Amino acid sequence: MPNNSLRVGVLTGGGDCPGINAALRAVTKSLTLQHDAEVLGFRDGFRGVVNRNVEPLHYRDVSGILTRGGTILGASNKADPFNYLPRGGADVSAQVVKTYRTLDLDALVAIGGDGTMSIAHRLTDLGVGIVGVPKTIDNDLVGTDRTVGFDTAVTIATDAIDRIHTTAQSHHRVMIVETMGRYSGWIALHAGVASGTDVILLPEIEYDVETVAGVCRDRARSGQRFTIVAVAEGARHEEGDYVVQERGQEYTDSIRLGGISRVLADQLREPLDTSIRTTVLGHMQRGGSPTAYDRNLATTLGSRAAALVADGTTGVMVAVQDDAVTQVPLDEIAGQTRTVPLNNPLIASGLDVGTSFGVDDLKVQTGTGDASLSHGR
Ligand code: F6P
Repeated sequence: MPNNSLRVGVLTGGGDCPGINAALRAVTKSLTLQHDAEVLGFRDGFRGVVNRNVEPLHYRDVSGILTRGGTILGASNKADPFNYLPRGGADVSAQVVKTYRTLDLDALVAIGGDGTMSIAHRLTDLGVGIVGVPKTIDNDLVGTDRTVGFDTAVTIATDAIDRIHTTAQSHHRVMIVETMGRYSGWIALHAGVASGTDVILLPEIEYDVETVAGVCRDRARSGQRFTIVAVAEGARHEEGDYVVQERGQEYTDSIRLGGISRVLADQLREPLDTSIRTTVLGHMQRGGSPTAYDRNLATTLGSRAAALVADGTTGVMVAVQDDAVTQVPLDEIAGQTRTVPLNNPLIASGLDVGTSFGVDDLKVQTGTGDASLSHGR
């Protein structure tokens, strides 16, 4: 019988994404089976820690959730304890520390994105032992080549663009597909190359409207009477600003991006005499069952997080670097965004096969000339 000398809390912070449940299962099963630990699950991210809304997580509670999207614990992106929106932005971090001590936790495993890792870092300074597990469809966390959820989002976006091809071809249209990703273009890049998109527009490369129009015209002239454009929600044209869907205090990140596809369509209407349609993929990219890759990544990272906690190591996020599992100190991650570097091999490969990135003179040095896909960075 387990003696439960180790007691660990777990939460899922920020927005949901496919693979969170797989990570939760891995953390809980590994801690229970390998380390005789008692696991407590907090409801709705840090909100559950602030309000001490918590219940035991047993092995059987996480059985059968590997393939399920979302999070069985619930999530919240309004529950930053240092800017706690349910209480008008108050600093309630002392409440988190109190819960941690009252429940006599040895550590907290926080499955989350950049917001969660920044909170985790600040709580570490207050004496809370935290191990982070990176999840977000955006793949924008510093310190890890991959985040749980990204592969699934890319797969969904790729499938969607494949389907849009048929209408584009039949009706000789310019079809613009908007992906999520906030200030980084990982989803648009990977789904765009995977689906043979003609133009890929990333936040990292300000696009030129005339270049995009030129691609559409050149294709039409050469007999290909349609063009598919993948545009990341954070893309901007030269001197343009981010296109914002919503501003406000309702969210920890007060800006919600969205709408660039319609802005681009308007920009292209004058130079092009073609019908143009837009599709915003939105939360479709965050829904449903995780891919095999994401399930395996979540299982690997979740069990590594459990091992670190059992070993007494906290203040880190588990990570994948060059196909190896490792951990990175939270202070090296907090407050940063991992954008797509211009020497990314997938950009070089896209250019090689004629994909436009919305500018005329994009020169990419991959260094090795190796267009390996495995590392995604
Ligand atoms: O960070 C994940 C993400 O899906 C982003 O790609 C997107 O900008 C944002 O969350 C949407 O947030 P919400 O679910 O609050 O609309």
